[in-house]
Amino acid sequence: MSTDSDLIHFFNGIPFTTRSSAELLKSLDAFQAREDDILLVSYPKSGTHWLAEIMKHLYTAKVTLTSPIEFGDVSKLEEMDNIGTKRIIPTHLGYDMLPGDFKAKKCKAIYIIRNPKDTAVSLFHYYKDNPNLPTIGMWSTYFDMFLQGQVVCGSWFDHILSWEEHRNEMGTLFLYYESMKKNPFKSVRKISSYLGINMNDNEIHEICKKTSFSEMKDNVEKEVSDPNHTVCSLTSNRRLIFRKGTVGEWKQYFSTKQNRLFDELYNTKMNASCLAKNIHYEN
Ligand code: A3P
Repeated sequence: MSTDSDLIHFFNGIPFTTRSSAELLKSLDAFQAREDDILLVSYPKSGTHWLAEIMKHLYTAKVTLTSPIEFGDVSKLEEMDNIGTKRIIPTHLGYDMLPGDFKAKKCKAIYIIRNPKDTAVSLFHYYKDNPNLPTIGMWSTYFDMFLQGQVVCGSWFDHILSWEEHRNEMGTLFLYYESMKKNPFKSVRKISSYLGINMNDNEIHEICKKTSFSEMKDNVEKEVSDPNHTVCSLTSNRRLIFRKGTVGEWKQYFSTKQNRLFDELYNTKMNASCLAKNIHYEN
């Protein structure tokens, strides 16, 4: 059985799984971006797979949806270089760790944000059911880890704030999970406009249908996925990803005290954030 230290290591003070080798993380700055690369950015469990699925349907020409840029070992750079089509590249990296060439080339980036309380609950389940992540025990223990940013990819707050601080450098498009659920049509339209893809209303409706939670969950059973080439890469068990897909589940987990602690930290950290105005934050 793997021990926690086999599964997690720290890089720049951030916990990464050992699926992201230290050598790869060190060499990321040598990564050669292309002007037409598109980044799908998220803190884990914010709806990355959903966004990725929408992207696949938006392009009619062949594109390659890669595994996250930070997953794998040093051979990743060469593997990415060998891709002969347009690349859609997911990442959970904070802005400061993003390879500089993406910034220099001003690549398009779409960042999906989910309210942090539901994100925390979703990540809790992911930890619990995923043998590639350390055992975390009870919700209360995990809750403290989440607040302190001691979970994979570090602090939710630092992640989002790092991307917000540099939002204009790459013209990042920010999307909100809850708004996408409420009005997927509007969100898909927004993405297609951002990417300069022309779509008529019927085509957009079709994409919304194909990427609904129920449709994607149903399709999970039919797919065989290779963990080295999926959006997540921490599991080949897609059932871990399409769990509930709801808004507000956190209410069944947070105690009154935990909720107060969370709100206090949120208010302190997000005080000056413009994005916070659009986040579906529930007290
Ligand atoms: P839950 O664990 O709350 O169910 P990610 O893709 O970033 O790992 O995020 C996974 C979360 O997004 C899971 O949340 C999953 O159910 C939800 N999700 C995946 N596809 C979705 C869809 N098409 N619509 C809504 N939520 C979706």
